[in-house]
Amino acid sequence: MIDQAQSLRKVVEDYGRQHSYMTDELPVRPQRVIAVTSGKGGVGKSNLVINMSIALASGGTRVLIVDADLGLGNIDLLLGITARYTLEHVATGEVSLQDIQVTGPGGIRIIPGGSGAQCLLRASEEERIALMESLETLQYQTDFIIIDTGAGLSPNVLAFLTSVQEIIVVTTPEPTAVADAYATVKMIAYENPGASIMLVVNMAKDRKNAGDIAENISIVAKKFLAIDTSFLGFVPRDPMVVKAVTSQQPFLLAYPYSNASKAIIRVAEKLAGCDQQASSDTRGLAGLFARIFHRAKHELKKGSNEIG
Ligand SMILES: Nc1ncnc2c1ncn2[C@@H]1O[C@H](COP(=O)(O)OP(=O)(O)OP(=O)(O)O)[C@@H](O)[C@H]1O
Ligand SMILES: [Mg+2]
Repeated sequence: MIDQAQSLRKVVEDYGRQHSYMTDELPVRPQRVIAVTSGKGGVGKSNLVINMSIALASGGTRVLIVDADLGLGNIDLLLGITARYTLEHVATGEVSLQDIQVTGPGGIRIIPGGSGAQCLLRASEEERIALMESLETLQYQTDFIIIDTGAGLSPNVLAFLTSVQEIIVVTTPEPTAVADAYATVKMIAYENPGASIMLVVNMAKDRKNAGDIAENISIVAKKFLAIDTSFLGFVPRDPMVVKAVTSQQPFLLAYPYSNASKAIIRVAEKLAGCDQQASSDTRGLAGLFARIFHRAKHELKKGSNEIG
């Protein structure tokens, strides 16, 4: 593992020498909170989140992953980590947010979700204040907070997507995935019009294939929704990803010279290099979670009204 980490650092350092964002002195700027989502499930969000985070961390950036996928505890599963405590235990007041952080490979930190986000919504005012306080502490230890939201447009996913300034929408070239990605973009355009939307095409044939797909989404979004989306990058379909998932390792560390790894480093590089002056989340983590609480309650209420 150490050898793999070292070789990755070398890969990243080589990039860093040519690109200013990976210098020793990281720019002091507000932390960035980025939600990673998709319309269709299984398009590669969690793999993107993990490996992109490791690429960023290798360059000296402090990254915190929030696993907000309420389905299965995806991130810990992919990394072979057994999380003793999750957000669920924070919601019930058993432990603090600091206590549930897990250190993952490549220097990333993870907040395991469990079914915690749902529980958080039911937390008492007192419990919520305690959580906000621990969030305040965390935010000074982090440059990037990357949230794996899970797929689809459930109230929980919507709560995250309407609360952040930067959203990565992941799709594959498959027409059903593209259609669902567009539905997600459309929802963001209506519900969070100020957000910056970045597209990543995973399991693409090549750059041209990915670029064409992102361009199609962009053109339609511009025409019918009057919003801009940007192409953050692509990851090719690569058997090394499947191999790494099977052995519960991040592909970037297991196979740092694979095509998928080279591509993910480019994605991380572009993400880090984006000028985020306008869209940086200056309201901090506590503000973010306050918005998520508020929004999730609203969505849940709306949902139950619709059902009732
Ligand atoms: N670039 C790739 N090349 C080949 N296979 C890939 C690639 N990316 C992902 N996969 C495959 O797709 C599977 C699903 O990936 P992942 O769990 O990251 O998707 P997800 O979008 O997080 O899924 P969910 O919606 O269920 O949370 C992986 O287990 C892997 O087998
Ligand atoms: Mg996932």
